[in-house]
Amino acid sequence: MKFSFTTSIDKLPNTIIIPIWKSKNTKSVLRQITKTYQAPASVSKLTWSADEKDILTVYAGDRTLHLVGMGQEPSPRTATKSVRNCVHKNKKKFTSTIGLDWQFAKAKKQTELLGAAVNGIVLGRYDNNLYKTNKDPKKDFMSASAKVVILAEKADATTKQMVREGNMLAAAQLRIFDLVNKPANKKIPSTLTALAKRNGKASGYKVKVYSGKEVVKKGLHALHAVGQASPNPSALIIMEYKPKKKAKTKIALIGKGVTFDTGGVSLKPSSNMHLMKSDMGGAAAVLGAMDVIAKMNLNVHVIGVVASAENNIGSTAIKPGDIIDSYSGKTIEVLNTDAEGRLVLADGLAYVNKNYKPDIMIDLATLTGSVVRALGKTTAGLFTKNKDLSAKLYQAGEQTGERLWPMPMWDEYLDEMKSDIADIKNLGTSSNAGAITAAKFLEVFTNEHPNWAHLDIAGKTLTDNEFGNQANATAFGVHLLYHFVKNL
Ligand code: BES
Ligand code: ZN
Ligand code: ZN
Repeated sequence: MKFSFTTSIDKLPNTIIIPIWKSKNTKSVLRQITKTYQAPASVSKLTWSADEKDILTVYAGDRTLHLVGMGQEPSPRTATKSVRNCVHKNKKKFTSTIGLDWQFAKAKKQTELLGAAVNGIVLGRYDNNLYKTNKDPKKDFMSASAKVVILAEKADATTKQMVREGNMLAAAQLRIFDLVNKPANKKIPSTLTALAKRNGKASGYKVKVYSGKEVVKKGLHALHAVGQASPNPSALIIMEYKPKKKAKTKIALIGKGVTFDTGGVSLKPSSNMHLMKSDMGGAAAVLGAMDVIAKMNLNVHVIGVVASAENNIGSTAIKPGDIIDSYSGKTIEVLNTDAEGRLVLADGLAYVNKNYKPDIMIDLATLTGSVVRALGKTTAGLFTKNKDLSAKLYQAGEQTGERLWPMPMWDEYLDEMKSDIADIKNLGTSSNAGAITAAKFLEVFTNEHPNWAHLDIAGKTLTDNEFGNQANATAFGVHLLYHFVKNL
């Protein structure tokens, strides 16, 4: 989407968004707005307190002003949400070019919040009607040529950079919304491969893929086992972004890309099985983050790995009790075929660690129902023994609103995963602490990497939101990873 700047109110179009902070001065801000836009005098007398997401629509001559409440000292996340909500509600009425009046945005971290507001504008235009036959016509602000003019006192280089970042981030998040919202008959491992390749070309990173027989040839046996009952070949997708200047840090991001999880022979109950189209949420986060990282030319060497398979039922499926090999050389007793995420990740982690020797490894996966029971729908589990990495990731969660909470990683939890006849089993002995035992399983395949963290994002990839009251994609992890990598 296109953004431009102006310092003159006369250059603003007739539809204008005005973010307002909640403060003691909200009344005087209303008076200023009334004066600036020659709005009816009654507006200055309104009791409107600029609470989060609260919208006040004011008609001033030919102009429609959407005053968007941002709440008190908003975080970037709140700024995004408030503006996104306003655009989502009103976009059909918007002119093809709208204004964003940033003059009244007197806050700490003002430029950062502008980036967040821009992000909200672009995200608010999203429509999840992917497969509807009578789509709303894409005219005016819904069309590809929609524009935003920003009225700001100064538009220096940092301000422009923040706007570009908010815009790029949103573009990547929108692609991820579409990807995650796709059901399993429209999304298989090769769909993820195609997206990685397309993004790689557009954003400037290399993509290498092992698929089908090559997966076996490379020794990615655990990944292969998960997909062996599916007609859609499994794939390991490796994306590599190298900045122009030599980077100090090399980081690997690994995502679980199970395009559908039936549970396999350990079949899932049918009631919520359709939600398992989002079992590639970790992969989606990695794909989206790679996209923005490369577009914004961050000075970090990043390797993105997606381990993708469809966990299907069928006569060739792995069966409970099967012993399988893995890339690391360790054998795994598969006691439950529904604990498949840790199998594909075991190979993803071992592969990237051995072949790229990253300084930092972070994996993301919709791994366990257990983490949803522990932390609910908004917070993901953060698993690492590294205090420094834990603090940095936690901070990134606070900043982006894609929240993480640290969970224990004591070795006692690993005892449950010991197998009598193989090196390790994929299921704890008890059904307790399932998110932690899953993390301990993964740890075995990291070769004691000192800088590894696992994020269990189950339950975070689909939520009810303004786009609809069914589960809708969130792109959880895209902003988080981008923010984390940027601050390295
Ligand atoms: N994909 C699921 C985890 C999941 C649950 C994601 C809810 C999103 C929402 C994962 O593959 C799984 O089935 N995990 C099992 C593991 C168990 C068999 C040890 C689970 O959590 O029940
Ligand atoms: Zn499963
Ligand atoms: Zn799964």
